[in-house]
Amino acid sequence: MKNTARAHTNIALIKYWGKKDADLRLPLMSSISMTLDAFYTDTSLIIDTEDKKFILNGQEVTGQAANRVFAYVERLQKLFNVSGNFHVISDNHVPTAAGLASSSSAFAALAASFVKAYNLSISTKGLSILARLGSGSATRSVYGGFVKWNKGTNSSNSFAEVIEEKPQMDLRLLAVEVNVAEKKLSSTEGMKLAQTSPFFKPWIARNDEEIEQMETAIKNNDFTKLGQLAELSASEMHAINLAAQPGFTYFANETLEIIKLIQELRNNGLECYYTIDAGPNVKILCQKNSCSDIKKYVKNILPNVKIVEAGFGPGITYLY
Ligand code: DP6
Repeated sequence: MKNTARAHTNIALIKYWGKKDADLRLPLMSSISMTLDAFYTDTSLIIDTEDKKFILNGQEVTGQAANRVFAYVERLQKLFNVSGNFHVISDNHVPTAAGLASSSSAFAALAASFVKAYNLSISTKGLSILARLGSGSATRSVYGGFVKWNKGTNSSNSFAEVIEEKPQMDLRLLAVEVNVAEKKLSSTEGMKLAQTSPFFKPWIARNDEEIEQMETAIKNNDFTKLGQLAELSASEMHAINLAAQPGFTYFANETLEIIKLIQELRNNGLECYYTIDAGPNVKILCQKNSCSDIKKYVKNILPNVKIVEAGFGPGITYLY
C-alpha cells in the first residue's frame, strides 16, 4: 500500500540556529518562516517489507543519509510501539539550483507518511512535533503560508503554528544559486559551533522582540519591515558564525557579491532583501512586480547564476 505525503520546503525569516537539547531538537529560539510552493518532497513509507531501504529520486541511498532516515523511522516506531522493516521512497522536487536545504520538506513528508502508513490518528500539531525530531526546520513545513515555531520548553510544547495560511502579502522569493564545490558544514554542526560565539547569547536575548516585530510586520502586511527584519536575522546568524571559536562562514565570494548587488538594487529603487541559510546561496525577498527587473539586473552582472522563483506554498498534503 502506498501512502504518499507531500511537504514543501520553508525558508526561515527569523532563523533557528541553536539547540538546547540536540536529541529532542529543542531550539534555543523561536523562528518564523514562509513555506514555499516551488520546492517539495513526496514520500511514501512502505511497511512490513523484506528488508530496509531508502530510495531517493529512483536511486537507493546508503551511508550517513540513509542511516539518519532509518534511525528516525525506528525512533517513531519505538514511540508508537509499532515495528517492521520498511522502504522509504522519496522524490525530491527541490532543484539543486535552488540551493535550499531539503531536510525541512524531507522530514515533514517522512513524518506524515509514517502516520499514514501506520494509520495513526495524530493532530497537525502532533505531526509538527514528530517532524521536529527529524530536523528542526521540518517542524514548520507541516503548515503553509507564514509559520511560527514556538521554541517551547519540552518536547510536547515545541511545535509550529500557522500565522497566516494564505497570506495576502505580496511576497516572492528568488533563490539565487552560487556554484561552489566546498565541503559543507551541516546545519547541525554549524549551529553547535555557533554557540561558542560571544554574539550568540545577546542574539538569543533579542529573540522574543524579533519574533514579535516580525509577527506585527506580517499582520500589517508590511513588506519593508518584513524584509528588513529577515535580512537582520540572517546577517546576525552569519556574523555569529564568523565570531565562533573557531570562526567559520558559509559565504562564498559570490555570496558577498550578491549581497552588494541587493544593496545596489535598493539604492536604485528596486526594493528587495536577502536571507541566507547554511550554504552560499542567496535568497532574495521581493514583490511580484519587481521580480523580473531584479532577475535581469542580477543576470546582467552575474550571467552564470541560476535563479528560481517561489511564492507561498501549502502545508502537508496526501497524494494517494
Ligand atoms: C539555517 O533544520 O537543518 O536553515 O535541526 O540540525 O536538522 P537540524 O537543523 P536544520 O537547520 C536549519 C537552519 C537554518 C535556519 C532555519 O531553517 O530556521
